[in-house]
Amino acid sequence: MSVDIDHRPVILTGDRTTGPLHLGHYVGSLKNRVALQHSHRQYLLLADTQALTDNASDPAKVRRNVLEVALDYLAVGIDPVQTTICVQSGLPALAELTLLYLNFVTVARLERNPTIKDEIQARGFGRDIPAGFLCYPAAQAADITGFKANVVPVGEDQAPLIEQTNEIVRRLNRQVGRDVLPEARALIPSVGRLPGVDGKAKMSKSQGNAIALSATPDEIRDAVRRMYTDPNHLRASDPGTVEGNVVFTYLDAFDEDRAAVEELKARYRQGGLGDASVKRRLDDVLQSLLAPIRERRAALERDPGYVLDLLRAGTSAARERTQATLDEVRAGLGLFTFEEAGFAAPR
Ligand code: TRP
Repeated sequence: MSVDIDHRPVILTGDRTTGPLHLGHYVGSLKNRVALQHSHRQYLLLADTQALTDNASDPAKVRRNVLEVALDYLAVGIDPVQTTICVQSGLPALAELTLLYLNFVTVARLERNPTIKDEIQARGFGRDIPAGFLCYPAAQAADITGFKANVVPVGEDQAPLIEQTNEIVRRLNRQVGRDVLPEARALIPSVGRLPGVDGKAKMSKSQGNAIALSATPDEIRDAVRRMYTDPNHLRASDPGTVEGNVVFTYLDAFDEDRAAVEELKARYRQGGLGDASVKRRLDDVLQSLLAPIRERRAALERDPGYVLDLLRAGTSAARERTQATLDEVRAGLGLFTFEEAGFAAPR
């Protein structure tokens, strides 16, 4: 495994800057990032150029959310000393790597990517798929390999993108004749994907079924109150079903007291436990999870200069790292250089 000079394996992961991060991001990836940041050399990418691939008509939203997502990172416990946070659009080497990688993937393969297929469906692109969108797996391959990442903590929906990255890596390495780029491993949490509060398969801001990490106490309470349970559990005295019951799925994901959750499940199945009681417990659990996050966020919001300074320093460090990879790839492919022809490089 290729590692950094400080011998820790390298993590790269990121988020599109389209809106505030929510509990789905938390269980899918943020928790792993916070846990791994000491044992790994971690880079987090504010993926604003990727966000444009399906938000080209609203660049203002994409821009605004760069700072918002950075605030979410710091609020959940990303330590800016351990983790480098950077802005994708500030890293031109990634764009250039993308362009090179596009020659090592076919349109048919991009169209077959299950994540892309799902997202095309969800966004209702029909036949009008932006080319940038179809090709973003190559850009994500550039993100991952530009940092020479070994580990990519992501939700399970992203697994096909890591697979496609490694295919590009293998093809490029074969072309170059040696392993210029490392393959990366997706790190996917065992909990699986968190459903939306409405019971739909995926929590997503665009579906309006998400609980933001920055949600107010009232927003949390309302979301829990609206939450999908067992539609056949009409009276508290009726036996209820736990499987597919979102309240229990969330308790499984967030309640640390496993024994208490198992006991609640047993009582619910048996009959005699109302939805309101289970929801009260979940509300307590989520309130105590999110309160400190919200407080840290509020403190940071008062000092945007501090956060922007971090992003600037992080982007600058990331620029150097990704440019070094680009230089290696260019050299590996044997692209034209003026130096080789005995001339100074153009400025
Ligand atoms: N596609 C990811 C998402 O939608 C965001 C992302 C961009 C990413 N670049 C990445 C994730 C590199 C992991 C690695 O959430």
